Amino acid sequence: MYKIAVAPGDGIGKEVIAEGIKVLEAVAEIESLNLQLEYLDLGSDRYLRTGELLTEEDVEIIRKHQAVYFGAIGDPRVAPGVLEKGILIAMRTTFDQYVNMRPSKAWHPYTPLKEEKKFDILFLRENTEDMYMGAGGVLHGKTSSVDMRLRRELYTMDLKVSGTSTADDDYAFEVGMMSRRGIERFADYCFETAKRMGKDKITAVDKANVCTSLYGLWREVFDARSKHHGIAVEYMYVDAMAMALVRAPERFGIVACPNMFGDILTDLGAEIMGGLGVAASGNINPNGVSMFEPVHGSAPDIAGKGKANPIAAVLAGKMMIDQLGRPDLGKMIEWSVKMAMRHRMVTADMGGSLSTKEAGDAIAELVRSTR
Ligand code: NAD
Ligand code: IPM
Ligand code: MN
Repeated sequence: MYKIAVAPGDGIGKEVIAEGIKVLEAVAEIESLNLQLEYLDLGSDRYLRTGELLTEEDVEIIRKHQAVYFGAIGDPRVAPGVLEKGILIAMRTTFDQYVNMRPSKAWHPYTPLKEEKKFDILFLRENTEDMYMGAGGVLHGKTSSVDMRLRRELYTMDLKVSGTSTADDDYAFEVGMMSRRGIERFADYCFETAKRMGKDKITAVDKANVCTSLYGLWREVFDARSKHHGIAVEYMYVDAMAMALVRAPERFGIVACPNMFGDILTDLGAEIMGGLGVAASGNINPNGVSMFEPVHGSAPDIAGKGKANPIAAVLAGKMMIDQLGRPDLGKMIEWSVKMAMRHRMVTADMGGSLSTKEAGDAIAELVRSTR
């Protein structure tokens, strides 16, 4: 029996999760699995109705489940950051999902790269620290005070500024902050994953040539954990990495990123393999509740039109099944997605003509055909 909390969320999140569930139910049907799904009403509609984001009750419900299957949040009616921080980032930090796993591999012919390349990258993005800690604020000239919000108001600091000043003197800041413990546990996860996958090296991304304190600590910890695990670490500056991912993605295997650079590079990783419509991710707490979601957002530009590609959500479901201990079933889902692509049973973003629902039906049917 698998107990899964399902949060479709906003926009195309709702549309693609419906298809992902369809595929998971096809798997459950042919394998006689008992899938227990509990739907959570997270997102803009509830927020606009009640003012609630991720509540204590939601958290309690999620705790009773083995995993969360999440769509996307974000809505043009709500100011940027309210839903993103109040629901998605809150989920990642509350459940301490400190690794965000985002594969990018050339397993279909939809890459926009000039030459078709064979690559198979696993991005591992640190998922709880860095600029996502919420350590920031505005320093107003007149009031001379600063509110540093660090991990949900754990830490408050007043900064006195001497002399008189005007609004012209305002500063706003958002600090990239990482803890030694936070980097250590993340680095250990990266090296252990490399070991499990039979790799002798990982690539770690940073900007240690400018942010010397933050990425100085990052490198110090990665060096030490590299020695401990007997696996090499190669460092890449994030700017050079962006270039290399387009020019020579086949050079990379496991790529470890700080949170913000990982956010940016994994959209690039998505694009080189065919777009956000196929990029899946897992927010992993190795000892707790993990959450699986497409990399993409709520896509207000195509929401409600039946245009969204459900493959990213379907593959997030595959990652969830893998993590729940059934990689054999994960392979079955991946095979079905590959077949759908091979036969062009895909949505318009991949050059097909199917609707979201038709594309989901096609994959579910392919799953059933393996019986
Ligand atoms: P987005 O990922 O929603 O969309 C970017 C572009 O990719 C759009 O043109 C969209 O149409 C296209 N696209 C995305 N998914 C697609 C799919 N499955 N099939 C076909 N095309 C697809 O990013 P955005 O437009 O920058 O953000 C929209 C909202 O989503 C914002 O509120 C943002 O904060 C939020 N967001 C949420 C998540 C999440 O919940 N995990 C992730 C990213 C963005
Ligand atoms: C992602 C998204 C989120 C992030 C936003 C919506 C908070 O872009 O999952 O990549 O920045 O992590
Ligand atoms: Mn992102």
